[in-house]
Parts: sequence; structure tokens; C-alpha cells
Amino acid sequence: MSDTPERKKKTLSLPDSAQPRQTAEDARNAERRARSGPRAHRVMRAALESGKQQPAPESLPASTERRGRGEPPADRAPRGRDPRPRTEAAGKPGNRPRHAEATLRGGAAAPRAVDREEAARPARRGPNTPAPDRRPAEAERPHRVTTPQAENFAMFAPCPQGLEQALANELRGLGFDDARPGRAGAHFSSDWTGMMRANLASRLATRILVRVAQGPVQNEDDLLDLARSTPWERWFGAERTLRVDTSAVRSPMKSLQFCNLRVKDGICDRLRDLEGERPSIDTVRPDARVHAFLDESSATLYLDTSGESLFKRGWRLDKGEAPLRENLAAGLLALSGWPADVPVIDPFCGSGTILIEAALQALNVPPGISRPFGFERLRDHPERRWRDLKDDARARILPELPMQLAGADIDPRAIEAARENAHRAGLTEDAVYFEVADARDTCPLDERAGWLITNPPYGERLELEQDKQLWAEWARTLKREFGGWELHIITNDLDLPRKLRLDPFRRTPVYNGALECRLFGFQLVKGSFRR
Ligand SMILES: C[S@@+](CC[C@H](N)C(=O)[O-])C[C@H]1O[C@@H](n2cnc3c(N)ncnc32)[C@H](O)[C@@H]1O
Repeated sequence: MSDTPERKKKTLSLPDSAQPRQTAEDARNAERRARSGPRAHRVMRAALESGKQQPAPESLPASTERRGRGEPPADRAPRGRDPRPRTEAAGKPGNRPRHAEATLRGGAAAPRAVDREEAARPARRGPNTPAPDRRPAEAERPHRVTTPQAENFAMFAPCPQGLEQALANELRGLGFDDARPGRAGAHFSSDWTGMMRANLASRLATRILVRVAQGPVQNEDDLLDLARSTPWERWFGAERTLRVDTSAVRSPMKSLQFCNLRVKDGICDRLRDLEGERPSIDTVRPDARVHAFLDESSATLYLDTSGESLFKRGWRLDKGEAPLRENLAAGLLALSGWPADVPVIDPFCGSGTILIEAALQALNVPPGISRPFGFERLRDHPERRWRDLKDDARARILPELPMQLAGADIDPRAIEAARENAHRAGLTEDAVYFEVADARDTCPLDERAGWLITNPPYGERLELEQDKQLWAEWARTLKREFGGWELHIITNDLDLPRKLRLDPFRRTPVYNGALECRLFGFQLVKGSFRR
């Protein structure tokens, strides 16, 4: 790509007036690039430093927390863990929708589209400023119990296993002071506005669940009673479609499917008794979702406020080989202790997930800014307050990246997907530099050290000889080109450090879906292997 000194760098599609002008330092960088030849530019181009700095996230230790009572299991259970959670969805057992909305909403690049839409709106409110809900029709329903806005709810945010502590740290950073790690998630408490904020801002959570009932259960009828005694009419009624999912760990109940039906019946019976009609079931695109979680002796009912999983940010096209989920990619950046103003290179970048998440984080773009949420379809949704929250978050988006981001992949289709994803995420084409290249040919542009963070191909996809050769040659490149850099690799190949002849200073257990992996951290030393 061209990198002439005249070129004006943009990292988000904001109006031109928001873009800082080129400085003398920018021109010097460009000149240095021009002098150092194409080989030096293979992967990383010089960035025009804007001088804006982001605070460094905390360095996060691995979590070994076990699940406490009342926590729903993660979306997917890891292999070889006992006991394995069981799950059941109402309507069609085992038929959970995948990617149902992911690409439907997209099209427009998020911040750009949003800026236009919001341009005409009146002055912003702070995130916690109450706003009147002016929807008269809502108030006319019978048997309404309104949600006091100051009411505090216990919440649970599931996340990929291994990110629990990092998620609790993130939630505390968002102002939820009582956030603490649980099993495959984190607990915290908040009012309704905080729930919306968590949905909008958490990069690591998979969902935000509000606990609405908990009680002892010995049989399926107890479940029916628990569901029946919960005031669902506060959040939805027959005008909404419903989906119920049930999961269990060590529950003595014989049939999860039957338990699921009992919960659904309890909800529907109550609403029919109160309002004359029951909601219909929609397992694919429900308005309201309820999760029931069973353990040895009790049940917890959660209202799912997220709708589609939060890792579906709305920008991913379903292309590329084994893409990481967006919240796992953000979690790896957090676990690695990446300071968000330091350059990042992903030499096996695939569809670009890690780099796009890094860019959005560094620019302070809220991960949920361009997607819909389940809570928007619930009764009494405080539309005005939600709009104010988003306005406030948009106002904090930075116009330009403070560092360089670059990715390489040997597969041209992967690079095409990465570029498309970056575009759909609202990033201008020079925010992240993507190049078709072999990881063994990569190098930084200048002396500034940074972060290599990557999800290389898994061993089982490679022939044994190919595998050995790739790692030996890549290790030579690392030693030659990346002295002073930190390298963080997520892999399920526990032998990879030996193949690279590098000694990790950290190995953090983390799950990529059902695959048990490690995030290895290495300090690279120029010209020498650690052992
Ligand atoms: C597990 S995928 C990475 C997925 C990526 N993290 C994402 O979220 O889309 C590994 C990638 O490494 C690429 N790859 C394999 N050998 C390579 C090499 N020698 N140099 C660069 N990329 C390579 C593959 O094309 C594949 O896209």
C-alpha cells in the first residue's frame, strides 16, 4: 500500500475535520519508510503518532475459580471436565441458533453510520442520568408491576473459560465494584442502567444475565412453581416471543427437556392467568430469553438481556479458517497485559479478529455500539436513557490510533476477509495494515518494540514435517527480527514452546470453544534463544 508523506492517515471514518494534520514527525517517519526498502515494510507500516495514550490494562493472572451456586454454564462445555453441563432449549432440543443475526445488521460501518444517525439529536446526558420513558401504550397493560429504576439486580456475565478474572477486572473498570470471578463468568450487581452499560461496553462477556428467581427444587413441579411465582410480566408478555434454555450441573433431574418445558409452562401459565394470553415460543429469534440453571438442589432463573451473544459485534463475515470469537480475542489482549498504545503484529492473522479488537479497544469504540440487544425488546425499555448511554460512549471514541497494527496471513482469502471485517467494523483501510505474507518473512518496520499476539494454525492441521519446519524457521525470524518484543501465542499444542526453543514466562489456561489451550507469553531476546 502506498505510504506517501502527503497521505492523511485515518483510522475511523469520522469527518475530516476530526483528523489531526500531518506533523513533521509524520513526514520523517514516511521518509524513513521510503528509504528502508520494501523488505522492511513487509508487515508493519509506520503509523503517524497522534500522541494520544490509552491507560495500560491490568496484567491478568490465570483463573482457577470453580463454579459457585446459581451460575449458568458457559456456552460450550470443555472436553474432559467432569461433570459436564447439560443444556436444553425449549421447542427444539439441541437446535440452538448459530449466527442468526450476525451479518443481518451489518452493512454499515458502525461508528460512521451511528454518527450520521445521531447527528441531529439534542445534548447528551451522562450515563447515569435518568430520563423519562414516554411510551404511553406500555402503561396501559393490566397487572403491570413496573421496574423501579434504582432497583439493584444480581447479574452473571458468562465468558470463555480462562477469562473469568480478566472479565471481573474489566467489569470493575467499568464501575461495577463488586464484580468477582465465578465459573466461566463473573458476578456483579447493578441497576437496569448498569445492565445496559455492561452490555454495551464489556469486551469479554458473552452475555449479561439478570437473576430473577432462585429457589430449592427437588422435582420438575418445583421448577414449574418457581417459574410461576416469578414476575415475568415486568419484562415481557404475550406480545413477545420466548425461548427458554435449561442447563444443569450435578442436577438429579432425569430429563432436562422436561425441566425446560416446566419452566416454559410456568412462565406461560402465569402470563396467561394475568394477561389472558401466553407468549409463543420462537427458538430462532426470540424477543425474550430465559435461562434456567439447575444444580444439585436448586434452580436459578435468569433473564437474558443480551439477545445474541455479545461476541457477535455485528462486523464479522463468516469467512476464514477457525476464527477466534471476538470476546476471546479481546480476552487474550487483556490476559497478555497489552498496553493499548503499543504496536501489535499478528503474523497468522486469519480474518483479523485480534487486530480489529485491538483497534476498537485502542480507539475506545464500545463493542456493542452497532448491534441490537435483547433488553431493547423488553417492556418498559428506557429508550431515552439507552440513547444517552450510547451518545456518551460515542463521544469518547478517539479519532486516531496511537500505534501501529499489522497482520499477515499466507492465505489471500483470509486477508480479504480481514480487510472486509475491518471495514465493517468502521475502521478505515489504513487503520490495520493487512498483507498476504508468510509469518517467516515478517518483521517490524522500525526500532519500536511491541506485541506479537497470535493464534497460529493448530498442529493437527499440519503435516508433522511441515509443522517442525514452520516452527523452526519462524523461531529464527523471531530471534532475528523481534528482539525486545513480547510474543503471546494461544495454542492447544502444549509442546509449541519446545518446538520454538523458547521459554515462556507465563502459561495461562484458556479455552477456545471446547478446545483446551494455553496462552504462552515469551519475552523475545534478539539474536539468542532462551535455551
Ligand atoms: C487459526 S487461524 C487464525 C485465525 C484468526 N485468529 C482469526 O480470528 O481469524 C491460523 C491462520 O494461519 C494461517 N497460516 C498458516 N500458515 C501460515 C504461514 N506460514 N504464514 C502466515 N500465515 C499462515 C492460516 O491461513 C490461518 O488463517
